[in-house]
Amino acid sequence: MKRSSSRLAAVAIAFAYAGSALQLNTGDASSIKNAASQVAKGLYVFHNEAATTGQFNQPQPWFWWLSGSGWTGLMDYTVYTKDTTYKAGLLSALGKNVGPKFDFAPPEQAGWEANDDQAYWLYAGLTAMEYGFDTLPGGPAWDVVAKNTFNLFASRWNADSGTCNGGLKWQYDPNASGWTYKNAVTNGAFFQTAARLARYTGNQTYADWAVKIWDWSRGVGLVSNDYHVYDGTSDDKGANCSSVNHDEWSYNIASYLHGAAHMFNFTDDSVWEERVHGFVNTATTTFFKTGIMFEQKCEPSHACSTDQTSFKASLARWLGKTAVLVPSAKESIMTLLKKSAAGAAQSCVGHGNSTCGVSWTGSGFDGQSDFGVELSALEIIQSLLVFEARFAVAADNDVTPTTTRVTTRPAQSTTLTTKATSALTRSTTPTPEVTNPSTPSTTATAKVTKLPAQSEAVTTMVTTVTVTTCSGKRR
Ligand SMILES: *[C@@H]1O[C@H](CO)[C@@H](O)[C@H](O)[C@H]1NC(C)=O
Ligand SMILES: *[C@@H]1O[C@H](CO)[C@@H](O)[C@H](O)[C@H]1NC(C)=O
Ligand SMILES: *[C@@H]1O[C@H](CO)[C@@H](O)[C@H](O)[C@H]1NC(C)=O
Ligand SMILES: *[C@@H]1O[C@H](CO)[C@@H](O)[C@H](O)[C@H]1NC(C)=O
Ligand SMILES: *[C@@H]1O[C@H](CO)[C@@H](O)[C@H](O)[C@H]1NC(C)=O
Repeated sequence: MKRSSSRLAAVAIAFAYAGSALQLNTGDASSIKNAASQVAKGLYVFHNEAATTGQFNQPQPWFWWLSGSGWTGLMDYTVYTKDTTYKAGLLSALGKNVGPKFDFAPPEQAGWEANDDQAYWLYAGLTAMEYGFDTLPGGPAWDVVAKNTFNLFASRWNADSGTCNGGLKWQYDPNASGWTYKNAVTNGAFFQTAARLARYTGNQTYADWAVKIWDWSRGVGLVSNDYHVYDGTSDDKGANCSSVNHDEWSYNIASYLHGAAHMFNFTDDSVWEERVHGFVNTATTTFFKTGIMFEQKCEPSHACSTDQTSFKASLARWLGKTAVLVPSAKESIMTLLKKSAAGAAQSCVGHGNSTCGVSWTGSGFDGQSDFGVELSALEIIQSLLVFEARFAVAADNDVTPTTTRVTTRPAQSTTLTTKATSALTRSTTPTPEVTNPSTPSTTATAKVTKLPAQSEAVTTMVTTVTVTTCSGKRR
């Protein structure tokens, strides 16, 4: 009796879910589009139409960066699926947050904004640049926005070079807690920005910066020789980046992976290709369980914060684009993305309306849903459509090979130059469309940098632990 009633209950639940389960056939483009469109809807319910700042409704305080990541995801969505439902909202939001100097430093965020936050909005700008997406009304070309922001990062790096031989700080406001942290999400973002500008513009100055940021990241130990990416290091009280916080988060490795993919695509240098493969391999062993993506640091303990649930969105987004830019990595990446997308889709049976769950490795909905969860599910599913997009280079980007293309290994220049040419030629005639960006780092608490209560917590951390433990966090 007991038995059969629980069986009946199980049947009833299965039946109730049947109408709302997300159907996904990873081998069928229209099925992928349908699934992506349902999840995009689930993401867009967080949009606050009444807000004047183009953000998504997020728990306080200030998950501004998450909104930047969300709009980037919706830009990719627009390009991959050709569904323009969110295009107007997206352009309006970018217009409200690009700021009067066109550098994603709007006055409303002054004092709150960190370098990684700015980067996660800039990713939308870089994506728009590569897709040839609409410019903002009255705004400059997207590459101008990207260069403006790049120049800020470069000047801040230079100003911060008195310690650790370089490195960009997490915060750019000296009064913000976290000012002493030089972390992976920030330097990975600067590296990626330089690499994307190098490939797009063909200007060697950006490639030189990418190499410089890479060398610094390796030297200080944020990127290990076996391609693990660690959260951060500090210059507090003379620490001079002598120790590293070894926490690993999926968006950190993703930031460097995608920068390396652009450097490979720009140089056609096998050194960068090896690095891309190194990151893919390490991401596979670190952030996948039975072939399905998972946030190893917080998922097993059901402790992912509002920031952390969104990190897989970055890994999914940039793995997908890497599959396009680095053809030799395509097969292994697409295998990972497909299995993960299927895992994500089966988790989208929450609340009777296909709301997705945090864990994709379990069975069904695990009960935790928020903006980041929905964004991660959108990115992993739509990443299967990444080959619908074209990644352009600037019209005036010289397609004639130059001998300066190869920045890492002079000896290889000769052979590589020819290849670089054809690669660039191939990508020159794209019909641009839309883009896709990402996020900042978090670990410890939440992005609360300026809340007095939290500031103290962070300060204490830094003080007592010197460097090692002040994990990446978002403020
Ligand atoms: C699904 O249901 C949840 C809980 O009621 C709600 O918060 C969310 O907005 C709904 N999603 C959609 C797409 O309607
Ligand atoms: C700080 O570390 C860098 C290398 O990371 C080194 O070149 C520099 O001399 C160090 N400075 C001090 C004051 O120890
Ligand atoms: C930092 O705080 C000090 C003291 O409150 C203030 O004088 C200074 O202007 C602030 N600096 C910035 C960059 O906001
Ligand atoms: C390349 O970029 C650098 C840095 O923005 C700039 O100073 C330089 O003028 C650019 N060179 C060309 C040829 O556009
Ligand atoms: C660069 O990316 C394009 C796709 O945008 C691809 O067709 C090309 O093969 C890549 N170049 C190299 C050197 O792999």
